[in-house]
Amino acid sequence: MIKYIGSKRAILPQIIAIVRRIPDVHRVCDLFAGTTRVAQALKIQGLFVVSNDLASYSEVFSRTYIQADARTVDRKRIAELLAYLQRVSPHPGYFTHTFCEEARYFQPHNGAKIDAIRQAIDSVATNGEEKSILLTSLLLAADRVDSTTGLQMAYLKEWAPRSYQPLELRMPHLLPGEGLALRRDANLLAKELDDIDLAYIDPPYNQHSYFSNYHIWETLVRNDSPETYGVAQKRVDCRVNKSPYNLKSEIRAVFQDLVSSLRAKYLLISFNNEGFLDIDDIEGILSEVGYVAYVGIDFKRYVGAQIGIFNPYGEKVGKVSHLRNREYLFLAGRDRQIVEEAMRPLRLADSLQQADLFSVEPAS
Ligand SMILES: C[S@@+](CC[C@H](N)C(=O)[O-])C[C@H]1O[C@@H](n2cnc3c(N)ncnc32)[C@H](O)[C@@H]1O
Repeated sequence: MIKYIGSKRAILPQIIAIVRRIPDVHRVCDLFAGTTRVAQALKIQGLFVVSNDLASYSEVFSRTYIQADARTVDRKRIAELLAYLQRVSPHPGYFTHTFCEEARYFQPHNGAKIDAIRQAIDSVATNGEEKSILLTSLLLAADRVDSTTGLQMAYLKEWAPRSYQPLELRMPHLLPGEGLALRRDANLLAKELDDIDLAYIDPPYNQHSYFSNYHIWETLVRNDSPETYGVAQKRVDCRVNKSPYNLKSEIRAVFQDLVSSLRAKYLLISFNNEGFLDIDDIEGILSEVGYVAYVGIDFKRYVGAQIGIFNPYGEKVGKVSHLRNREYLFLAGRDRQIVEEAMRPLRLADSLQQADLFSVEPAS
């Protein structure tokens, strides 16, 4: 799966453990789906999932993994299309020039292949579902040969070893079941969603803008050849496309508005201790829904933090303050007993772990 800061891949077992313990949950919405990892895990549980995010690439993932039903997709045709796309002749264009020559995110031989495949997808795909599956395959293939630490604000000084590999399209792992893909502002969508049992909420939590951090995926999907700026070659609209969730002065109001707009019976929220809101803020806002319980989970930070901080020339420029952080899951709902029961095993596990961390060796 694609490298994505804030992906909840590592805490899927905890998320699913909570959802499975809540009775009568059939229809769920992942309002900030990103990679769609959480939405996929929910779909695998047999739930109907609405997968939403403002990013164009996330919508492509949602159409592929959530909206497409593996039972009805013509896999033979997709396999033939992928084989055809794999054979198209490399043809350097905007992508190669911008991201492989002006910047060094990909090696030019792969850039030329990406350019050619991206144009070919528009001519061979006969409907939106096919196009999204092919684009997903291209995004994942490009991610496997990039030369970054997982963010598109900078690229490595020396080519990453994986960037030498040839681009290889693979069949995405499609899931059986029904779902819906949306690309809406979560706060606007929240006002219209009225048939959802549980909403999963994982918004941006600090100043880092997803639109800027993943500008290349946005451009690859839109195929709109925008003007770019700076060493990172970001789309010019990165200057104006800002989420209120990225602003310390606005996040509280926008999160409060989201929570009060949702009519789902249960809200499951991810936040971590690197965000603008702290536990008390979140608990206070959620308390208007009803009863609130939360649990903390230790979490390895994103790969960039493990490797170090680099400037756009790939030079190491700073020290990473810490390698682990704490991810919190909050569950809010009107029924206190259900909320407590759903959270109990994880809270117990967390308190045992914390007790272990602070335990004192018995005197011998
Ligand atoms: C923390 S990430 C979600 C990660 C996701 N749970 C995963 O596991 O991949 C936050 C997401 O919110 C999206 N986003 C930012 N502002 C938004 C808004 N107003 N409405 C919907 N999505 C938004 C970003 O594009 C980003 O994908």
